[in-house]
Amino acid sequence: MQLCVALDLPKASDNMRLAESLADHDTLWMKLGFRSYIRDGRALIDTLKQINPHFRIFLDLKLYDIPNTMADAAEEIALLGVDMFNIHASAGAVAMRTVMERLAQQAERPLVLAVTALTSFDEANFTNIYGAGIDQKAEEFARMSYENGLDGVVSSAFESRTIKAATEETFLTLCPGIRPFGEDAGDQQRVATLEVAREERVDFPVIGRPIYRDPDPATKVRKILTTMEQGL
Ligand code: C5P
Repeated sequence: MQLCVALDLPKASDNMRLAESLADHDTLWMKLGFRSYIRDGRALIDTLKQINPHFRIFLDLKLYDIPNTMADAAEEIALLGVDMFNIHASAGAVAMRTVMERLAQQAERPLVLAVTALTSFDEANFTNIYGAGIDQKAEEFARMSYENGLDGVVSSAFESRTIKAATEETFLTLCPGIRPFGEDAGDQQRVATLEVAREERVDFPVIGRPIYRDPDPATKVRKILTTMEQGL
């Protein structure tokens, strides 16, 4: 497992303080989502790489548009030098193929994941929109992503094992909604502890609020990393 820290703080300076407090860890992924990337843009990526060149960057913009527009965006994202980004699986197989074909023209490309079911959905609300249950749809979306050349999917920890069984063990699962030691779920519906994430063979647990709302985020991250290492 590789820890992915969500830098979702309300001010650029708060994100920087958090990243600086974690600068001595060479194995961390930093997740930049809507709030931080819209506010701080590519300068944030450059600053994070200055804080620690080993930080890997996951740009969580969940692309969803017509295939050509998604491929244009994917090309620009690759040029930013990030290590991973994501699209919505429900954009469909043609969009997936178009994105991957465009990225194949680059010398190096970031990892590409597809969002299956947002972890804030409960079963009823998900079914209402997608016309099938979370388990079924997450598996279908994962298969579609695998068949169209993506590197993995975003799901809750509870679908990770099924997804790997339906694709292959090396097909990556990145799972938000992790509450390492059972902390408050907030708006997340399908939350899992680190122990469950490990049992479910999650590759990237994504953790935001349980880290940045902790009075001592650096100590919390150390505790999370120690727990992850003990389980290996
Ligand atoms: O604070 P918390 O640990 O719930 O943060 C989870 C992060 O993962 C947030 O940045 C959220 O946008 C993101 N995310 C998610 N569910 C997805 C994809 C991304 O919660 N399916």
